Amino acid sequence: MKQAIINIVAFFLCCLTTTANQSILSEKTDRFTISVIGTGYVGLVLGAGLAELGHQVTCIDIDESKIAQLEEGNIPFFEPGLSQLVTKNVSERTLFFTTKYDSIATSDLVFIAVGTPSNSDGSCDTSAVFSAVETILSISQTTKIICIKSTVPIGTCCKIEQLIKEKQLNNALEVVSNPEFLREGSAVQDFFNPDRIVIGAHSQKASDSIKKLFSSFISKNIPVLETDLASAETIKYASNAFLAIKISYINEIAHLCEKVNANCADVAFGMGLDKRIGHKFLKPGPGFGGSCLPKDTRALLHSAREVGVNFNLVKAALETNQHQKELILAKVCGLLDDDLGGKTIGIWGLAFKAGTDDIRESSALYIIEQLLKKGALIKAYDPIAMNNCKKIFPEIEYCNSKEDALADADLLLILTEWDEFKTIESSNLRSGSRLPKIFDTRNILSIVKLENELIHH
Ligand code: UDX
Repeated sequence: MKQAIINIVAFFLCCLTTTANQSILSEKTDRFTISVIGTGYVGLVLGAGLAELGHQVTCIDIDESKIAQLEEGNIPFFEPGLSQLVTKNVSERTLFFTTKYDSIATSDLVFIAVGTPSNSDGSCDTSAVFSAVETILSISQTTKIICIKSTVPIGTCCKIEQLIKEKQLNNALEVVSNPEFLREGSAVQDFFNPDRIVIGAHSQKASDSIKKLFSSFISKNIPVLETDLASAETIKYASNAFLAIKISYINEIAHLCEKVNANCADVAFGMGLDKRIGHKFLKPGPGFGGSCLPKDTRALLHSAREVGVNFNLVKAALETNQHQKELILAKVCGLLDDDLGGKTIGIWGLAFKAGTDDIRESSALYIIEQLLKKGALIKAYDPIAMNNCKKIFPEIEYCNSKEDALADADLLLILTEWDEFKTIESSNLRSGSRLPKIFDTRNILSIVKLENELIHH
């Protein structure tokens, strides 16, 4: 009974709202002075996006060469629309870059958007977040909000609150958790069109300030969820782990389909027609990668273990993801008669997904490493991710076009779903009398069209 009462109270505490009320910053205009610590994907898109919304933004990073690059308008990674957004706001003097922390002293809001990489045990390394917090605490002079954008383990924001209390700065500083859900490749578009804004805070005033910051989104009826700090942190992890589970699930369904001669594309489509399931994240592939899904899923599993929760489903999603890469490797070996020595494998796609040059935790990395160990010769092509891959595998051949990667290959392995990989000219496929085998892990090639062409040529 006690539990039931607590649940009801908790339910009312977490309210969905679309209106902005009183805020710490309400006496000022709607133009806030903001510092963003960390200029990675999240920090840079956030900084440029907030500047575009009309705020005054200073982006801070300890990496001097990165800041020098940004000051010249060069974005250190590929992200559609970001370069234009940065250049425009730098020229309008609403966006600044620096390695110094001075701007924090006079900022209304300080966002922390530094990296939180995986430790070797799967837990999340929050050292950069706490170092940023220590810097803010040492500089802080005026009332401000510390807003955590970095994905941090549940309970981190409460620890930051505790640090503030210990330094007796709790009259001046507030902590807010405002998780980021943007996807690489569509980050700018996602910033301006979020599915939801999650605001975790222990004070209504702090929460209201963040609503004011994003008031132009709220007026477009984008839902805002105001909740406590731990719930906001959990929403981020629970969302990413759910997406990971969905992908691993469809990857296992794809194996089942293969064994029972069912058409996986039809099966996924049929499932997705159910509005409760939806079509998104139901595409089988070489396993999920990137800077977030694998890392956050591991961190959630680790956090759950620490509090005695046996999260079998999340564990299984990670195991299935590793197994998926091993299965692909086994299939490649099988297709080449279990003898890869001296065989040439053309690889189309190195990025962890289309639309980005990011190769972090891309399945291509594991697969290439294993293929090399087995003596295969690799000819790789990716429209934009080759430079990043060269730093890890300088020894493989990088081609100028998808056709070059295909020439003389014994097998073509498609790993990323770039649009340009959806078609192959049958004339490019044949090298003398030889036809390479094709393994399309993303199911993007129109096989029927290709077979017809080959029959008629
Ligand atoms: C993800 C989350 O989507 C985003 O909300 C969060 O802020 C950061 O992490 P991102 O890393 O950009 O974004 O990649 P996402 O588009 O989610 O794809 C992740 C991986 O899953 C990719 O390797 C992709 O190829 C794979 N994937 C995705 C599939 O294999 N099948 C699918 O149906 C969807």
